[in-house]
Amino acid sequence: MCDFVQEPDGLLEYDFGAWTVRKLFFLAHYLGITTHAMSGHSKFSSLNYIDLFCGSGVFKVVSEGSRVRRYPGSALLAAGTQKTFDKIYLVDQDFEALEAVTNRISRLGCTAELHTWCGDSNLLIDDVVAKIPDRALNIAFIDPYSLKVHFNTISTLAKSRAMDLIILFADRMDIERNVEEYYYPRKSDNLDLFLGEDSDWRAEWEQLENRDGGKIRQFFADCYLRQLKAIGYYYSRTKVIESDRGPLYRLIYASKNEHGLKFWDIAESEDVDRQRGLFGY
Ligand SMILES: C[S@@+](CC[C@H](N)C(=O)[O-])C[C@H]1O[C@@H](n2cnc3c(N)ncnc32)[C@H](O)[C@@H]1O
Repeated sequence: MCDFVQEPDGLLEYDFGAWTVRKLFFLAHYLGITTHAMSGHSKFSSLNYIDLFCGSGVFKVVSEGSRVRRYPGSALLAAGTQKTFDKIYLVDQDFEALEAVTNRISRLGCTAELHTWCGDSNLLIDDVVAKIPDRALNIAFIDPYSLKVHFNTISTLAKSRAMDLIILFADRMDIERNVEEYYYPRKSDNLDLFLGEDSDWRAEWEQLENRDGGKIRQFFADCYLRQLKAIGYYYSRTKVIESDRGPLYRLIYASKNEHGLKFWDIAESEDVDRQRGLFGY
């Protein structure tokens, strides 16, 4: 896949930091393992991938010495698995990104049935779930820049269906920096919408004595995991993604079924650092 995207194709590509390669490394492994094991499984009517913040399909990392390397984004990774997903559902509010990713997926020769929506995934979620067939096994990747996904969106997605979740949890990038502002509801309700309006985080926040960065991040991760549990996600893992200057955000993996954890644990046990040469970052 890295070869497929290496030359510029004139379509929109994002500029991301090298840590994005780490995030997508785990996603790529998890998708590969899960499609390999679950594609065509008799228990499910289909195996589907949902990406609510799908991006343009290609991003570039400029490293020291101005060396540019291009990488496949999440949607392209999902479209390029050896055993394919049956259906792929993509949402992005940026029309140019959606056009670029659709073009790239079609050039890949991906055989999955593709559904796309342009707009705010929090507003489009009912349309997306209406297209997901019954008795399907689904994997959703939720990768906003910050706290842009509402908890209601997650619960709508997850309701009454098998839906494993991989969610970018912007604890360092957003929550830790802005928590004092989020505390006052009239200034911003981002954190309330993200954690769920019933999370009651303020009451517990009052009790938190040690408010150093690590404790704040853990506090909100625990709160989010409790919210996920309340909608049936009893099995979860969190993976901290680090930049050279320390932790940046977490990936939260959550499943209603403990078998899902097996696949994630295998993906997580792969050592991204040993692959540095291969991934070239
Ligand atoms: C971090 S990027 C996603 C990167 C992508 N996962 C990849 O691997 O290339 C976030 C994307 O979310 C889109 N976006 C931001 N807010 C959104 C919203 N409310 N609904 C849908 N898309 C949104 C942006 O246009 C951007 O493409």
